[in-house]
Amino acid sequence: MEVKRESWGTRFGFVLAAAGSAVGLGNIWRFPYLTGENGGSAFILIYLVFVFLIGLSVMIAEFALGRNSGLSAVGAVKSYSDRWTFVGVMGVLSAFLIMGFYPVVGGWALAYIFESFAGLYTRTPEAIDQAFGTFITGTARPIIWMLIFLGMNIIIVAKGIKGGIEQAARVLMPTLFILLIFISIRSVTLEGAGAGVDFLFRPDFSEVNGGTFLAALGQAFFSLSLGMGAMITYGSYLSKKETIPQNALIVTGLDVGVALLAGIAMFPALFAFGMEPAQGPGLVFVVIPIVFSQMGGLGIIFGIIFFVSLAVAALTSSISLLEVVASYLIDQKNVKRKTAVYSTGVLMAFMGVLTSLSLGVFDPLPTLNVGFFDLFDILSDKVFLGFGGMFIAVITGWVANKEVLREELTNEGTTDFVLFEAWHFLIKWIIPPAVAIVAVFGILDIEETAVMIFGLAIIAVLAIFSRKLD
Ligand code: PFF
Repeated sequence: MEVKRESWGTRFGFVLAAAGSAVGLGNIWRFPYLTGENGGSAFILIYLVFVFLIGLSVMIAEFALGRNSGLSAVGAVKSYSDRWTFVGVMGVLSAFLIMGFYPVVGGWALAYIFESFAGLYTRTPEAIDQAFGTFITGTARPIIWMLIFLGMNIIIVAKGIKGGIEQAARVLMPTLFILLIFISIRSVTLEGAGAGVDFLFRPDFSEVNGGTFLAALGQAFFSLSLGMGAMITYGSYLSKKETIPQNALIVTGLDVGVALLAGIAMFPALFAFGMEPAQGPGLVFVVIPIVFSQMGGLGIIFGIIFFVSLAVAALTSSISLLEVVASYLIDQKNVKRKTAVYSTGVLMAFMGVLTSLSLGVFDPLPTLNVGFFDLFDILSDKVFLGFGGMFIAVITGWVANKEVLREELTNEGTTDFVLFEAWHFLIKWIIPPAVAIVAVFGILDIEETAVMIFGLAIIAVLAIFSRKLD
């Protein structure tokens, strides 16, 4: 018996769910520290160009491929040509790898909501810094928080598209926007906030190199949830009535808006209290609590709001990652939703435990010189997402039929997509070589060569055996 495919209840619900996938740790945790490490506004400028020229076009392509085929990542690309099945498989693999570290950080955010209540902001800066180090290198505590965070994902995704993912996004996303706006207003109205605003909006190109471009491109794909089939999957549940380009523009706009808002929430406050912007991944867990500790009694309120926002943003993104893997099992392997979600969840829990432990008590990969945490991060965003995005552009531009795409993007000619030709030109001729060039120069500039070669080798093997995959 043919079971009817699930679908989103409303357009608003779809937009919030897709924006929920896009807006996540990438915006609030990663974007600020990458900006800090890469010299501020010059990085932001390059990032914005990549987002609107490359990211938005790839997002439109992903929605179109998903809705047109009515299938999630692997099934969708396979339906165009089995020569390209590996791109979908790479996507599922990337979702898996990202879920190796994402719930760990999501768990930290949850833990910090409770730390906020427990007097975190009454400590000295040194004690706050030390507390974070002790916490993440610990054994049981970070693992328990990671499991709680992952458990929330499992409950939501097991409930399905409309009743689970869409419902969660409807409640969580508006909450997130309001909370972030609140903190941003506080941050820019602090005395001495101007230096932080300058850092964000006055470009200094002296720190830019090949690595900056790769970081900006990787971040564009990561932040918009592209290159791995998440948006293909979400598009596959979208009603034929909806206009794709418009929805993609809204989702992209919301994603960029939240990243900038997170920057505005953090850097002015950081500069106002004389802290260093280039702090790496610890930025939101060390520097931000220190900033709150300087705010007197109000710090605790802002701290709680901030970490609730971070946890909420992380949750609506990680459910889309879990959905990518679960929908693969549902669509391609005929597994029931609940079974797919529970079994995937168990595997992800294992990875999360290993990742969390690799920050402290055990070093699983001494020869590669990176822990699981960095391994999953580098593999997914510097290797798989960029190449995934490039291949998705190639499939859309060179394999999918242009007229079918035109029909899909104009709702059978009933709506306008005036930029269709420009979009198709970008997807076919500009994006594949542009991404390839950035990837190659970026790779030459990156220190973790062994990890990069390992990632490229996985892609090569998958591509060679593409026709055998399903
Ligand atoms: N876009 C998410 C973020 O910015 O945190 C991360 C992400 C989610 C990446 C889903 C990829 C994905 F498929």
